Amino acid sequence: MKQIIANFKMNGTVEDTKEYMIEFLSKVDQNKAEITLCLPYTSLAVGRYFLSDSNIKLGAQNLSDEEEGKFTGEINGKMLVSAGVQSVIVGHSERRTKFKENSKIINKKIKIALKNRLNVILCVGESLTEKNTLKTLETIKNQLEEALKGLYENELERVTIAYEPIWAIGSGKSATIKEIEYAVKAIRKVLSDDFSPKAGKETQVLYGGSITNKNVQNIMRAKEINGILVGGACLDAGGFASLINLS
Ligand code: 13P
Repeated sequence: MKQIIANFKMNGTVEDTKEYMIEFLSKVDQNKAEITLCLPYTSLAVGRYFLSDSNIKLGAQNLSDEEEGKFTGEINGKMLVSAGVQSVIVGHSERRTKFKENSKIINKKIKIALKNRLNVILCVGESLTEKNTLKTLETIKNQLEEALKGLYENELERVTIAYEPIWAIGSGKSATIKEIEYAVKAIRKVLSDDFSPKAGKETQVLYGGSITNKNVQNIMRAKEINGILVGGACLDAGGFASLINLS
């Protein structure tokens, strides 16, 4: 079954999430895909409550690169697990650019998430300048190698890679099928060369960036992809349920 992961970003109060869950669960076909909802921290408890009887997984959007202690405002891996979280997004371009997260921090976060038995959704993708200067593959390779440094091959089973070109995020301009297939193939080659052909073949690779009800079917059928990571289009409960039902 393919994966559909929703990244709510910084949207939704506890009350909004409650209303969202009631509508979403009444409309979505849960057997269409393996669904994960990555909610804001403050909505995790209400998400857990509503999703407990469903096949839908609870996800978070971030975790600290520190394990415990004097880090005001931070949330660690252990806390996420105790809040019922199964998966966590790491390396999103918004965190890389707006919060200055470098590859060392991303690598640390992945190791802490895995140590806590969380699944990792690792985002990689090039900027528009990198795309225009033909640096897409180089960028993806560097991001992957730096993020996955020191991981054991069996740990990759709990890592999903999301190819999210920065220029496609929230722009209304998704990558073409050709561009997606080109990047996904490159991601699989890096995993195959650095870990094993099995890792290259079996690691889950998703696409994210301006996915809508209109392009979802096409994108889901791109070669060698295992699903999608959705931002803006997940925010309307009815709209997202129909996107999943259409996929
Ligand atoms: P959009 O679907 O809004 O382009 O966002 C994609 C994204 O950043 C998901 O992580």
